[in-house]
Amino acid sequence: MTSAAVRPVRHAVVLAAGKGTRMRSARPKVLHEAGGRPLLAWVLAAARAAGCERLTVVVGHGADEVRAAFLAPDIDWVLQSEQRGTGHALAQARDAVRGAATLLVLSGDVPLLAAETLARLAAAAEAGWGAMATATLDAPGTLGRVIAAADGTLARIVEAADATAEELALRRVNAGIYALPAPEIFDFLARLTPDNAKGELYLTDALGLAAASGRRLALVELAEPAEGWGVNDRLDLARADAWLVAAKARALAAAGVTILAPERVRIEAEVEIGADTLVHPDVFLGGRTRIGSGCTLHQGAWLRDTEVEGGATIEPYSVLDGARIGAGCRVGPFARLRPGAELAAGARVGNFVEMKNARLGPGAKAGHLTYLGDAEVGARANIGAGVVTCNYDGAAKHRTEIGEGAFVGSDTMLVAPVRVGAEATTAAGSVINKDVPDGALAIERGAQRLYPDWTRRRRRGNQPKKG
Ligand code: UD1
Ligand code: MG
Repeated sequence: MTSAAVRPVRHAVVLAAGKGTRMRSARPKVLHEAGGRPLLAWVLAAARAAGCERLTVVVGHGADEVRAAFLAPDIDWVLQSEQRGTGHALAQARDAVRGAATLLVLSGDVPLLAAETLARLAAAAEAGWGAMATATLDAPGTLGRVIAAADGTLARIVEAADATAEELALRRVNAGIYALPAPEIFDFLARLTPDNAKGELYLTDALGLAAASGRRLALVELAEPAEGWGVNDRLDLARADAWLVAAKARALAAAGVTILAPERVRIEAEVEIGADTLVHPDVFLGGRTRIGSGCTLHQGAWLRDTEVEGGATIEPYSVLDGARIGAGCRVGPFARLRPGAELAAGARVGNFVEMKNARLGPGAKAGHLTYLGDAEVGARANIGAGVVTCNYDGAAKHRTEIGEGAFVGSDTMLVAPVRVGAEATTAAGSVINKDVPDGALAIERGAQRLYPDWTRRRRRGNQPKKG
């Protein structure tokens, strides 16, 4: 006999097959995003953080799309080919969870749940028969209302669609998060009938049946009621999104980031920001953006999937998508950096400069009104105002190389493929379509001609004809 306590196997089942009719969407509901991540991603993250080693996700409506969005080795997919209700959905998982003792049953549309809540629920369930989370909400909306027995355990759950006016007035709701004993729960699911307003097999009714058979299901009230918000329509989605965005701003502030007007910035879930970075109002940071320490992001900076190293400044109204910005760089105002734009340390990009798949070496500058596409610019090179890399000949893209310390005069057109050598110079207004050797000056433009004492319209006969 072994003395070690046997830890019950915890296994999460996530119900994510529903049609989500009230979203009025072509997209499966659990793929709609809040805080920059699909609803289902939040639920899976909480289950993993709570120590669930296997995740069984029940899919049906838009199953292929949902599966494709979440390829992970710890997920087992179960198909509910006809969406006959939450009780029917859970019943489909019976074989997939064989061997599990405590089943955490989660709803794919309840994104704000915390991992600690799942641990609390599992502990409560393991101390008794089962447990479910409840929340007391000011606006309980379409969520199921919870009716407790005299001893405080569950008596039954009334769905909003089936509730009397009196029941609808109850504010304690079913959060759709449960810890249930397996395999017994499946016996109650097998007894469900669809005699209700929606004609569905309600998981909630199985819990009522268990209670009626003397099973004591613990009601665990959520300390943070938002954890119980279920997303059934677009307004629910907007509310969950706002909550997640606010929580992200609070977490960053706690980690040493100054956010001047937290209610006016949007920083999504995966974004990382170092301490002592200053974020001005109306900044958007999304995708896998990573910002170093001591940076300043000015008003209207829009960054997605972008890396910014320490001490860099992003001036107002700059758009950076898939860019990499080195330490101490300055970008903008009004710069547009597209995927593959890279600035080495100390480089500078000014107003109305667009870069795509182009690299500026250390200390290089492109100050004004420029397009750099498919280009490599050496250290300390200076790109004058209005310079364009003509990278596309109508059929294919070509590269431009500019050497270290080169000076590319204003309004130079660089017809790629072309190379401007190190320390070379191009004269303003030149169309450069042949390589310029290191250290050379290239001028390509008509010589200026002078007509002394020229006065326009000197004689009547020179005036343009009317009409
Ligand atoms: C459900 C609960 C309600 C609770 C609320 C919490 C039932 C009957 N009602 O209501 O008491 O307050 O969640 O948010 O359980 N799903 C399937 N297959 C189906 C139907 C639904 O997998 O056939 C999935 C959905 O994708 C969703 C979850 O189950 O992720 C809940 O379904 P939904 O239709 O949103 O139920 P609610 O009306 O919100
Ligand atoms: Mg729901």
